[in-house]
Amino acid sequence: MDAITSWTGLWAWVAGRDFLSERRRRRDQALLYLLDRVAPPGGSAVDLGAGSGFLTLHLARSARRVIAVDASKDMLSQLDAAAVRLDVAPRIVTVLAPVDDTGLPSGEADLVCASGLLHEVPDPDAVLREAWRLLRPGGALVLQDFASRRWWGFSRFVHVRGAHGPMDAAEIGRRLAAVGFVVRTVKGDGSHWIAHATRPDSPADV
Ligand SMILES: C[S@@+](CC[C@H](N)C(=O)[O-])C[C@H]1O[C@@H](n2cnc3c(N)ncnc32)[C@H](O)[C@@H]1O
Repeated sequence: MDAITSWTGLWAWVAGRDFLSERRRRRDQALLYLLDRVAPPGGSAVDLGAGSGFLTLHLARSARRVIAVDASKDMLSQLDAAAVRLDVAPRIVTVLAPVDDTGLPSGEADLVCASGLLHEVPDPDAVLREAWRLLRPGGALVLQDFASRRWWGFSRFVHVRGAHGPMDAAEIGRRLAAVGFVVRTVKGDGSHWIAHATRPDSPADV
């Protein structure tokens, strides 16, 4: 590779990274803004597939009580450590459990959320049904995930066997409606989507 090609390649790589990180920053901001809008401070939330706490820590900083569910002990240990550092540990409970069978009580959460989870599970509908069970009538569900199957051919090998993989914005809208949610918004940019739905208060709300 000659010098020009190599420097051009390096520039493209750096520019590409900047572009991607800016897009990701905007997407994360949109997601956190939506959470704050639909779930006022002081309520209770369940973060499914909480990982190291991206959503849980944000929610707990705004005075919400959060139950963070994940199947990975390591992720929950990282979350616990971050919660202590940020002084929000008293508002967070971590639960080691599968996201489609959390064992948590029914109908109590004001908000259920999940970021980057649905493509990882074999049966996304089972997770949506568990979210429905956990929510109080009128409660909100906020989801974010990949939309693009472009890289899935390679990246599925680092996921559990049988992981569903990405779905597009139209598909998550259909799946939410099939479980009985009222779909408020699904916004996507081709690579990701963010969905907001509610568990209806009564049949008239549907
Ligand atoms: C890509 S990470 C996203 C973490 C975090 N929500 C975020 O946005 O940074 C997905 C998380 O879901 C968890 N997960 C995947 N499948 C799960 C399952 N069936 N039950 C519980 N947790 C699961 C993984 O352990 C991982 O921490």
